Amino acid sequence: MADDETHLFRTSWSLYDALSEKNYMFHREIYALIASLLQQRRERGGYSMIDLGCGNTRFLAPCLKAAPPVRYDGVDLSSTALDEARSHLSGLENITLRCQDMLHALHEREEASLDTIFSSFAVHHLDGAEKQQLFHACARALSPGGVFILVDIAREEGQTRQQYLDTYLHTMRSQWTAVRPEDLDAACAHVAAYDFPETVADLQQMAANAAFGESTLVDRFAQHHVLAFHR
Ligand SMILES: C[S@@+](CC[C@H](N)C(=O)[O-])C[C@H]1O[C@@H](n2cnc3c(N)ncnc32)[C@H](O)[C@@H]1O
Repeated sequence: MADDETHLFRTSWSLYDALSEKNYMFHREIYALIASLLQQRRERGGYSMIDLGCGNTRFLAPCLKAAPPVRYDGVDLSSTALDEARSHLSGLENITLRCQDMLHALHEREEASLDTIFSSFAVHHLDGAEKQQLFHACARALSPGGVFILVDIAREEGQTRQQYLDTYLHTMRSQWTAVRPEDLDAACAHVAAYDFPETVADLQQMAANAAFGESTLVDRFAQHHVLAFHR
């Protein structure tokens, strides 16, 4: 099996679940916000949604159950994750899970066919050009008034990728103390090889280039950001 940005997620979800269970990436605070955003959207009427890099949906599933979309499509390159997602999402109707690249999934969608695009901790795996393509594809697929909710890590303004990595890896080594040493090594190697976070300003510029309107920083928890880009 090739070693690439999804290897860690294709082979095992137990490590990522252990990290999120300990709340090292602020999943609890972030998904409380996502629950509230989806609830507000549901109160305005039925909405269709795609989730790019959905993983096993462990944290999103309860939000969806509280504010069910009329249709939810989860997309991920890891079939292991999608198998788990199937059980986390059981009970919800009109669910589709596809083992597919997120850009391909968006390109297959009809223009203006989605109300909400969601992606959490997955877009930083794309390079800069791919992220810009993603914003264009999201803008095309969203209906007027639609929103792209992006949860992801981001660099500070003026911070290089290496400076970002030095800080993040230091936090992992010093604070992620409940992780077995061999698992921490694997997680740190994954971050060092495959995390390419942008700054918030760069993400907002990409959105503006793709003709998004307002973009909002909903909140941030250390390097972990929640952004909303409105069509
Ligand atoms: C860190 S996990 C996040 C899972 C979940 N969204 C969450 O926030 O807990 C990142 C996920 O993105 C997926 N992924 C990475 N690149 C992808 C791509 N180009 N297309 C689809 N999924 C991708 C990985 O397989 C992995 O499941």
